[in-house]
Amino acid sequence: MKPLDVAILTDTHYYSKKNWVDGDPYAFPAAREQLYRRGSEEIIRYVFDSLCEEGQPEIILISGDLTNNGENTSHEEMRELLRSLKARGKRVYVTTATHDYRGEGVSYGFDKNNRKVDVPAFQREDLRAFYQEFGRSEAVSVHEATMSYAVDLTPEYRLLALNDDKGYDHAGFTDECFDWIAAQIADAKEKGMYVFAMTHHPVLSPSPLYRLIASGDLLENGEARAKQFADLGVCCMLTGHSHIHNTSCIRSEKGNAFYDVSTSALVGFPPYYRRLRFEPDDGRIDVSTVCIDAVPGLDTDGLSLPEFTKKQFLGTVGDVLRSAEQDYETFIRLADGFSLREEKARKLRWIIRPAAKTVNHLTFGKIWRLSGSKRCGVTKREIALIKDKPVVPFVLDMAANLYRGDAALDKRCVEYRVACGFFRLCDTLSKPFSAKLRGAGIDSVSEMLLPLVHKDGLPDANYVIRFEN
Ligand SMILES: [Fe+2]
Ligand SMILES: [Fe+2]
Repeated sequence: MKPLDVAILTDTHYYSKKNWVDGDPYAFPAAREQLYRRGSEEIIRYVFDSLCEEGQPEIILISGDLTNNGENTSHEEMRELLRSLKARGKRVYVTTATHDYRGEGVSYGFDKNNRKVDVPAFQREDLRAFYQEFGRSEAVSVHEATMSYAVDLTPEYRLLALNDDKGYDHAGFTDECFDWIAAQIADAKEKGMYVFAMTHHPVLSPSPLYRLIASGDLLENGEARAKQFADLGVCCMLTGHSHIHNTSCIRSEKGNAFYDVSTSALVGFPPYYRRLRFEPDDGRIDVSTVCIDAVPGLDTDGLSLPEFTKKQFLGTVGDVLRSAEQDYETFIRLADGFSLREEKARKLRWIIRPAAKTVNHLTFGKIWRLSGSKRCGVTKREIALIKDKPVVPFVLDMAANLYRGDAALDKRCVEYRVACGFFRLCDTLSKPFSAKLRGAGIDSVSEMLLPLVHKDGLPDANYVIRFEN
């Protein structure tokens, strides 16, 4: 079998500027977040141009959340960009997901006073014909109810482009859909083909923390489905949705491995996409990450795009903490962005303000004293070096590591050991809730938080998947 090269992008969240003709969505407090939708057009245009340069894969996959929230204008412009890729000789395969339609056909834009206004959006059925030319028109089989399709990229490689959106808060495959999936795999195997797949939602949780905070965003019965895929001979699934750059692996009882290779949102932090080279004859898939360092013409305050998007994302959290302590009126405005309404924010001032003050003034010295030197394995002399160092930037870095993957803080450094000591203290304090945690699939607080400071095992960005034929 000849090797096969593909590029996978996901969660492009294209947001047409026609939705804010006079206003600016980023004047709205909620708009500064992990995604940078204001720059989505520039970023996507630049990446598409880069993909048309010499040496780039001919096959480009996009696994859903093409648009902000399904606005008609966003879809129309996004499809033009996809068509421009095809016009330059690329083969483009897309699936859509829950951000590509609204049940009532209404999304939001901004008026000149930066107030949210209704704009027309796609409903789910509108997507069928609209994106037909990006995969389904070439399919060897289509599962009509879900719009999933199987396509032979070459006579030797079959892609399953799966659509798992069972509803806004529900992702997964019905047994009937899975029967169709299994039949496509069996048919391809009979023809001696190699099969891999993409779907939008994570099949395996990208981190133990995600399992706790966003369990509803995982594919239904994900681990069981993953093992089914593995036993059917599909070991590689490309996913998106969580916006987390991660790789997770599970083995079936028969010993077959399944890898969930999830890619971060193209227009978010970190601004990444992936390239994969499949070499089934050598039993390997080479996975690499491409970082978009800069986009000509996009104003990023003189920073690189990863730095800028990180500042967008984490800056908001920092602003919220700071304002909660020092400028409560600003806090109320920002709090609306994460669904804490004004009335409630005013009511909770008595607890939010001192809590924010405590967090803002936490230092490694205080955490060390709280956790105990023995639990941290850090002596008095060692802690003296960093005792006044604030904890908030460290916590923000942990959040960044969750999205960027491959957290690799030196295990010998004092910060790492103090953090571990604190997590162990949390393990002790959370013992009364351990049954609840286990119910969410979490053994301990340490298990949940340690990968955010140092992740052992499978890398997230660049690595080789090895498998037996
Ligand atoms: Fe998304
Ligand atoms: Fe999504």
